[in-house]
Amino acid sequence: MRLGVIGENLVERILARTNLAPAPLIETQIAFSMARAIMAGVKVGLYDAIGSHAKTAAEVAATCKTAPEATAKLLDTLVGCRYLTYRDGRYRLTEKSRKWLVTTSPHSIADKLLFQYDEWDVVAKYEEYLTTGEPLELHGTLEGGAIWDRYQRGMRAVAGISADEVAARMPVSAGATDMLDIGGSHGYFSVCVCCRRAALRSTILDLPEAIEHAAAILAREGMGERVRHRAGNALTDDLGSETWDVVFLSQLVHHFTDEQNRELMKRIGRSLKPDGVCVLLDVIRPSTPEAAGGVGAVLDLYFAATSRSGTWPIATMQAWHRDAGLSVEAPIPLRTLPNAAMVVGRRPRA
Ligand SMILES: C[S@@+](CC[C@H](N)C(=O)[O-])C[C@H]1O[C@@H](n2cnc3c(N)ncnc32)[C@H](O)[C@@H]1O
Repeated sequence: MRLGVIGENLVERILARTNLAPAPLIETQIAFSMARAIMAGVKVGLYDAIGSHAKTAAEVAATCKTAPEATAKLLDTLVGCRYLTYRDGRYRLTEKSRKWLVTTSPHSIADKLLFQYDEWDVVAKYEEYLTTGEPLELHGTLEGGAIWDRYQRGMRAVAGISADEVAARMPVSAGATDMLDIGGSHGYFSVCVCCRRAALRSTILDLPEAIEHAAAILAREGMGERVRHRAGNALTDDLGSETWDVVFLSQLVHHFTDEQNRELMKRIGRSLKPDGVCVLLDVIRPSTPEAAGGVGAVLDLYFAATSRSGTWPIATMQAWHRDAGLSVEAPIPLRTLPNAAMVVGRRPRA
């Protein structure tokens, strides 16, 4: 997938195709202004305020407690961006905003858009990263409980996009009983995996400052003792010996260096029961710039700048598995999340 300049009539399509339209202006000023407008709509509660009815600008402004004229401007912008429609002085949600941005939708990623205010500040430091070559380390920039709270909620929102698919396609046997979800935060992946396998329970190992905010998110799922948190540090904690049927790490290995991942994977290898699996879910580092695609290329820089190591190629993750004595299985590319895959290693039967 890629973002791009799309002509809205024949003349514009010709201008776009023949390089007469100023694409860099549209892909910068229009892109960042549009992003901020969509996010502002979430922040002031505009999509919830419209809900399932057609509303006037004055009604939306009254519900959101925002300035009427400025609210009308934002509403008109969101019509142009196809998040709203307009007829006879009233605004309605489109399918896109109803599915993804209304907070009561089961697919809502509104919390991720709120966390994007923090990511916005990090991305504003790309030039610093370019000058020093030092990654900006997202976790190091998360100062204060409010940011940790937005981070955990944002991660939960993104997990909602793919958790059902991950749970359905994860190669875990029906008889499995013990799962360790390292860096599992909100625990939603564990919840979905356990819901599909009656005998399975899961322990979510995460940093204490994450659990402080993730606990309430997990409690919403009503899983009780079947999915519970354990405060700790994956880089130093004892993970046990022949303890787990599945060890799952989603969006974690890009925070660690090659050496840290190699060492962690060895401890994971020892902690797996015979025939147990280690599943790494992450955005995959593209093999070439051309292979990345638009979204992949932008994410590659994002992860390089904001995490210790950036994303990893599948082959590197498989090498960690082999080093840890695991046999490598076919990677599972996700259909619901572009550029992401599950990379699977299995401990041989005794
Ligand atoms: C990008 S989030 C991913 C959350 C979740 N696994 C998901 O995919 O939605 C990374 C998580 O790893 C946790 N984490 C980072 N370093 C860690 C460490 N050394 N030990 C345990 N957890 C860690 C963070 O607190 C955060 O919750």
